[in-house]
Amino acid sequence: MASTSSFFSNTLIDWYHRHRRPLPWRETTDPYAIWLSEVILQQTRVRQGLPYYLRFIERFPTVQDLAKAPEDEVLRLWQGLGYYSRARNLHHTAKQVVSEFGGRFPDTYTKLLQLKGVGTYTAAAIASFAYREPVAVLDGNVYRVLARVFGRHENIAAPASKKVFEEIANAQISLEEPDTYNQAIMEFGAIQCTPVAPDCLFCPLQQECFAFQHGLVNVLPVKEKAKSSRQRYFHYLVLQHEGKLYLKKRPGNDIWQSLYDFYTIETDTLHPAPELFHKQASEALGIPKIPFSSTGKVYKHVLSHQKISAQFYLISLPFRLREETEETIGIKLYTIEEIEALPKPILIHSFLNEHFF
Ligand code: ADE
Ligand code: SF4
Repeated sequence: MASTSSFFSNTLIDWYHRHRRPLPWRETTDPYAIWLSEVILQQTRVRQGLPYYLRFIERFPTVQDLAKAPEDEVLRLWQGLGYYSRARNLHHTAKQVVSEFGGRFPDTYTKLLQLKGVGTYTAAAIASFAYREPVAVLDGNVYRVLARVFGRHENIAAPASKKVFEEIANAQISLEEPDTYNQAIMEFGAIQCTPVAPDCLFCPLQQECFAFQHGLVNVLPVKEKAKSSRQRYFHYLVLQHEGKLYLKKRPGNDIWQSLYDFYTIETDTLHPAPELFHKQASEALGIPKIPFSSTGKVYKHVLSHQKISAQFYLISLPFRLREETEETIGIKLYTIEEIEALPKPILIHSFLNEHFF
């Protein structure tokens, strides 16, 4: 490990001295200036962030200046960067540094984590750049470089992978120049080992790079976002007639294929506007507008990529629906005994249990 470690970090540091962009926050060890630059750079790229940094540091040269500024002015300087809660947090943290830390930034990684809005990345950046504490930064650039060079296939979007990469990064960090090493690996990821079309041909790590040697440059890092879960709202119209209920067999292009449930109105909110909702129901059923309301209970069901919230509306019909309507919307009358025997989604079964079985 030791020899690889020094080779890797020495190569990066050597590369950095030849390729680094001169950036103002790299010419300072003032933790306030470093913190300010990192907060801005979390929001935007270097090129767009630079003028913002320069305006902020000119208007607020110290954390005290920022702390006592009116919020409006902070927000005005932030204007155009978006995500304004970040600007309010910035202001809040400046006040916290003044009120809780006597205007001096905490001087270790662990203590920096106590600041609002300062997470592991920012704490490591400040601790290493301002105080030369050997704690490795981990951002998107660092994940990518490490995954490629060391051939790691862990999904970098999974929170559990953070520990794996943290260990590698901290094993590689230069104890003599942790600040330069951290700048170097981020700069290397930004300029040389880029997400798309990295410059492998002229890369000083080419011989040691696992991804390059194994043809995996386009595969690493593995980044699989957890599929986000879709929230759906089902409104079940439980149409009753002479002790029987109308049910329908679910179609094949959706969840619960071939199971039986009730005529459904799906909406994108839990509580749809009643007017529209009743109109839609009466038109679909070919009956005059009738008021009906939910039983009040929301039944929930979680599937792998969907969350269902279902409500039920009991409607007694004094007549049978027209045959044509029944056919068009695919519903049929069933006795309670028949329904017991039909395959149903669990939440339909629960509802029936509570009201009919
Ligand atoms: N992006 C985030 N932090 C950075 C830094 N210190 N230098 C360049 N780009 C960065
Ligand atoms: Fe990145 Fe290519 Fe260099 Fe490997 S060889 S570190 S993939 S630029």
